[in-house]
Amino acid sequence: MMPKIIYKDRDGNSKTIEVEKGLSVMEGAIQNDIPGIDADCGGSMACATCHVYVDEEWYDKLPKAVEAEIDMIDMAYEPKKNSRLSCQIIASDDIDGLTLTTPKKQS
Ligand code: FES
Repeated sequence: MMPKIIYKDRDGNSKTIEVEKGLSVMEGAIQNDIPGIDADCGGSMACATCHVYVDEEWYDKLPKAVEAEIDMIDMAYEPKKNSRLSCQIIASDDIDGLTLTTPKKQS
């Protein structure tokens, strides 16, 4: 069973995608043409254009962001306290059902 990730946009549309374990939530979005995630740097934590808002009930369940991710989130467009970089969230059974919202725009 592949973990399901629910990607919502600001207009309330949502898409549920099965993301292969070990891939990042960013890669799952790119492979499935989810709008709103650009991922310019390809996942190396150097661009912040994979920025997403993780639903509150999921935020604390995810492994904590490392310092470098927190620094990069500061550069994202309209960061909030539930902001994460989707390239740093790796699909696993633990995040089956993870729900996040893509920002209006990146950078
Ligand atoms: S893809 Fe560039 S920081 Fe995530």
